[in-house]
Amino acid sequence: MNRLQSVRGMHDVLPDEAQLRRRIEQVWMEVAHGFGYEEIRFPLVESTELFRRSIGEATDIVAKEMYTFEDRNEDSLSLRPEGTAGCVRAAIQHGLIPNRQQRLWYLGSFFRHERPQKGRLRQFDQFGVETFGMCGPDIDAEILLLGWQGWQRLGLSPRLVLNTLGNPDERLIWRKQLVEYFSQFESQLEEDDRRRLKTNPLRLLDSKSKSIQDLLEEAPQLENLLGEESRTHFDGLRETLDAHGIDYAIDPRLVRGLDYYDFTVFEWVEESLGAQSALGGGGRYDRLVEQLGGRATPAAGFALGLERIRECLEATATTAVDVYLVALGEEATARMCALGMQLREQMPDLRIRTNMEAGSMKAQLRRADKSGARAVLIMGEEELSQKSVVLKFLRGPEEQQTVLLDNIKSALAEHFAPTG
Ligand code: HAM
Repeated sequence: MNRLQSVRGMHDVLPDEAQLRRRIEQVWMEVAHGFGYEEIRFPLVESTELFRRSIGEATDIVAKEMYTFEDRNEDSLSLRPEGTAGCVRAAIQHGLIPNRQQRLWYLGSFFRHERPQKGRLRQFDQFGVETFGMCGPDIDAEILLLGWQGWQRLGLSPRLVLNTLGNPDERLIWRKQLVEYFSQFESQLEEDDRRRLKTNPLRLLDSKSKSIQDLLEEAPQLENLLGEESRTHFDGLRETLDAHGIDYAIDPRLVRGLDYYDFTVFEWVEESLGAQSALGGGGRYDRLVEQLGGRATPAAGFALGLERIRECLEATATTAVDVYLVALGEEATARMCALGMQLREQMPDLRIRTNMEAGSMKAQLRRADKSGARAVLIMGEEELSQKSVVLKFLRGPEEQQTVLLDNIKSALAEHFAPTG
C-alpha cells in the first residue's frame, strides 16, 4: 500500500523548524502589540464571492489559484488565499469600522493553488496588519515603521520598494494608454501577456518576459498622470520615511497582484531568496470597505510570508542543543549523567542533551552532530579514571582539549556566553 503523504505544496513544521517559526511569530506579535494593534481572527473558509469582489476576477489569485468547492448546501466556498478580504468582511459585519480608527493584526494559514517551488507553497502562513479610518500618509508610514522594527528585531534588512498607483481615475487613463501602447505590439507578445493585455493590463508591468521588459522602457508612465492629491500623499509618506532614516527605492513598475489598491503600494524584497523574493507587501485600499458593503472608509495594511522569512533566518538559526554528552561504558555513562545534572544547575542557560541508548563512539557522535550541538563532552575509560572529559567542538575552529571535571564549568563558560 502506498504510504500517505502530505498534499503537494503543503508542509509539516517539524520540531527542528517549529522553534524558529515560533520566534518569528513572537517578534511580529510583540511589535504589533507595541504599536497598539489588536488581534483579529477570521475563518479559513469564506464565500467565494467575497474574494471575487475584493481581490478581483481578473487577478491570478482569483482566476487560477483558489481552492474553491461547493459545500453540502451547494454554496460556493473558498479557502482564504489572503487575509485582507476576510478581515474587512469581519470588520464590517461586526461594526468595527464606523466612526472609529482600527488597527488590527492577524496570523494564520492561507491557501493558493500555485505551482509549488522554493518560497511558493500551496499552504503558507502570513502575519498581517490592517488599519481602518485613517486617510493620511502618516498611517502608511506607521505600518512601514512597524515593519521596519520587526525586521530589525529579526536581524533582517530587506529592501523596501515603494510606488504609488494614484487614484482610480488616474489609473483608468493610464490603463487606456497602456492598452493602446501594447496593442501595437500584440503580435510580439507571449500568450500570457496577450491575456493580461485584455483582462488586467497593469499586470504587464511585472511580466517576466523579455519582450515586455524591453517595451516597458518606452511605455506610458502613471507618474505623468498623477494629480495633486496623489502627489501630496506620496510626498508626505516619503518625507516621514526620510525623517526616520528608512531607506527605500521607488519602483514605478510595482503594481502588486491584487486589484484593491489605491495610492501607496510597497513590498519588502530579499534578493538572496531568488525568484520568490518578496517577504511581504501591502498598501492602501481606500475603496474596499465600501465595495464590500460598508461605509466608505480609508484603509491600509500589509502581509508577510512567514516561510520566506524563515528561509532568510535559517542560516542564523539556533538549534535546541549547545552541548551533547557522550559516554562509553556503564560507569562513564552514570558519571556523565551526574555531570549533566550538575552543569544544568550551574549553567542554566546552557542546553545540554544526554546521549541515550549507548552506542559506539561513532554512533554517539553522529547523534551529537544531528542534534546541532556546538560541542560534545566525551568520557571513555581513560577519562573516567583520570576524572576528566574531552571537550570537542563540532562546528568551529576551536581545538579539542582534555579538561579535568573540576574545571569543566569554566572551560565551557569560555565558549558559551550566557544569553541573558
Ligand atoms: P501578497 O503580496 O499576495 O499580499 O502576499 C503577501 C506575502 O505573502 C508575499 O509577499 C509572500 O511573502 C507571501 N506569500 C504569498 N503567496 C505565497 C505562497 N504561495 N507561498 C509562500 N508565501 C506566499 C497579500 O496577501 C495582501 N493581503 C497584503 C495586504 C494586506 N495588503 C493590504 N493589506
